[in-house]
Amino acid sequence: MKRRYSRLRGTGGYLPPRRVTNQDLVAELAQRGVETSHDWIVERTGIHARHFAAPEVATSDLAVTAAKAALQAASMRAADIDLIIVATSTPDMVFPSTAAIVQHKLGIAGCPAFDVQAVCTGFIYAIAVADSMIASGAANRALVIGAEIFSRLLDFNDRGTCVLFGDGAGAVVLEASDEPGILATDLHANGEYVDILCVPGHVAGGQISGRPLLEMEGRAVFKLAVGVLGETAQAVLAKAEVDASDLDWLVPHQANIRIMQATARKLHLPMEKVVVTVHEHGNTSAASVPLALDCAVRAGDVKPGQLVLLEGVGGGFTWGSALLRM
Ligand code: ACO
Repeated sequence: MKRRYSRLRGTGGYLPPRRVTNQDLVAELAQRGVETSHDWIVERTGIHARHFAAPEVATSDLAVTAAKAALQAASMRAADIDLIIVATSTPDMVFPSTAAIVQHKLGIAGCPAFDVQAVCTGFIYAIAVADSMIASGAANRALVIGAEIFSRLLDFNDRGTCVLFGDGAGAVVLEASDEPGILATDLHANGEYVDILCVPGHVAGGQISGRPLLEMEGRAVFKLAVGVLGETAQAVLAKAEVDASDLDWLVPHQANIRIMQATARKLHLPMEKVVVTVHEHGNTSAASVPLALDCAVRAGDVKPGQLVLLEGVGGGFTWGSALLRM
């Protein structure tokens, strides 16, 4: 029997309008007595600016705007979609899922809709699940979204983390096809590292129990991220029997330019083949990869027929990759 593949039909992205430069953030933090500088942030991370959502905006709002852009790029209507997966760690509510809210805001009903929680690797997990469901015949046209309002999880008294993250959403439409498509995916998690990157609070009896703000051991995360991103890239390339030198583009999780440079070096890829948006977006967690992909597609850099490696790493610890022919 002929294998069913999933092909990418369109991408979309959305950044909330409030752009916060390093200078803006330095000034805001100074009022709290928290000291940082544009130079420190740029030198250690490559970030120049990030976007923050307004208080009345929900993660599903960002997701819907990105989803509509992806549908338009795919020349499809919301009614054509038969699967919605939203990757997020900042859902609108404890439940129901943000995906169900997105489905309703798109004006459709009936198709399966659910969230995936793998922090910054969430979009890679969501793509892998959608790909499996399309390959098995369970779905034909999937909307896969990464959407986050990470600014609401930040401790603005912790200069080691609050300068790193931003808000946004990215989306893709995948469709069943005889032609690849997604060539291979590779997913991993290791719960041993829960404590090095977490938001340890939870809801209990109508109260927040524990600290509901992001905590991170930066150096430990950095070291682990560089190691596992190299490994998962090699693993997915091996599964598809493709050499790294055949890649047209690497679209890595946009956390830190130094992590991206280290991954590119491991794959012997020049930085010209790496899509970089961290300078303008900061780390948008599950939104970072689809947002970066959408920027590169709309800029005309990533073109039909090209070979693209998507990679993510994040809390859990989780990591993974997806290799696709555009
Ligand atoms: N401004 C000025 N100084 C700062 C700041 C800041 N914003 N933050 C920390 N420092 C200081 C520290 O206090 C420390 O000072 P000290 O030496 O006097 O103690 C010094 O800078 C160095 O601190 P480190 O934490 O060792 O700095 P490092 O070079 O490791 O950079 C960073 C920190 C950028 C967080 C880095 O460790 C990193 O990028 N880690 C990975 C983070 C990441 O990628 N997270 C997300 C991945 S998964 C996900 O996306 C959820």
